[in-house]
Amino acid sequence: MRRELQADSATVVLGIETSCDETAAALVMGGNDVLSSVVASQLDIHARFGGVVPEIASRAHLESITPVVDQALAKSGLGFDRVDAVAATVGPGLIGALLVGVSAAKALALTIGVPFVGVNHLEAHLYAALLDDPNVEFPMLVLLVSGGHTMLVEVRRPGDYKIVGQTRDDAAGEAFDKVARFLNLGYPGGPVIDKLAKMGDAQAIDFPRAMLNDGLDVSFSGLKTAVINHVRKHKTAKTSDIAASFQSAVVDVLVAKTMRAAIDLDARTIAIGGGVAANSLLRAEISRACATKDFRLVLPSMAMCTDNAAMIASAGWHRLNLSGGSRIDLGAYPNMGLSVEPA
Ligand code: KG4
Ligand code: ZN
Repeated sequence: MRRELQADSATVVLGIETSCDETAAALVMGGNDVLSSVVASQLDIHARFGGVVPEIASRAHLESITPVVDQALAKSGLGFDRVDAVAATVGPGLIGALLVGVSAAKALALTIGVPFVGVNHLEAHLYAALLDDPNVEFPMLVLLVSGGHTMLVEVRRPGDYKIVGQTRDDAAGEAFDKVARFLNLGYPGGPVIDKLAKMGDAQAIDFPRAMLNDGLDVSFSGLKTAVINHVRKHKTAKTSDIAASFQSAVVDVLVAKTMRAAIDLDARTIAIGGGVAANSLLRAEISRACATKDFRLVLPSMAMCTDNAAMIASAGWHRLNLSGGSRIDLGAYPNMGLSVEPA
């Protein structure tokens, strides 16, 4: 099997994503032309448990992976013979879930006789911003906010990243999920709080904005505790007001830190990514702040914010260009940071 391949505008990468609770496959040509993107969500399966159950996630990935890859191929109109490389998320994520995608990708790569490319899920979220807008100017500052991560990343060019700020405790999405769980709103919490907040008063409760004027790191665990204490003390408080006030506190901090980092680093472009980047208030507020300060903003579509395989295929294409295919004995790395090399 070839490991070396110079990726160009005609190179087709099949991407596979199974790091958490979405089984996804996509075909992307030339790094940013999405030919197909299929996402099979396990949300319904996990919702009744109030969160993702790792063992159930692995089994569901096993059941879905073959039909999802078949669907992605069918939608692209291409056959396996047109696939030039197979990329899969190797970390971070749930180990059992990752192994399903990694094993499937290696098996396909070996069968077709093309390179296998191990992709870092966090790096892929950074590329998702470029999928909707490939002509961005660097340096780009990306606010990456998902269920497991919250970080501000300076992207000097593809493959050259520096984390300039991150959460000291809970990730932003985790805070949404935990608050929603406490309010009995179900899982995942982000979309339901986003919806409920539209009916509430964001000024009703003055929740803390931790570390607002202090560096580029963030902290959300105090805010979560403040919400819990408030609800315990004010039993008749309207849930929509709590949701709106909580969401506003999270967004105020995220937008303030992003703008400060962009100014400090003299960034040309600002982008957001990860599941929380689908939040309507965050999208509106960051758009307003960027317009006021004259920053170019890349706001990926909702589908590109949450987990998908188009961003994996795109990251795989860039990785092929930067360092070629991966070793076929590359493993899965549940606690992987934003490292350039997945090994
Ligand atoms: O990136 P993602 O799909 O998966 C991870 O890699 O974590 O992000 C999932 C997270 C969940 O915590 C979910 O509650 C949050 O993104 N999320 C939102 C919204 N949609 C999803 N948070 C706030 N507002 C939303 N509209
Ligand atoms: Zn993600």
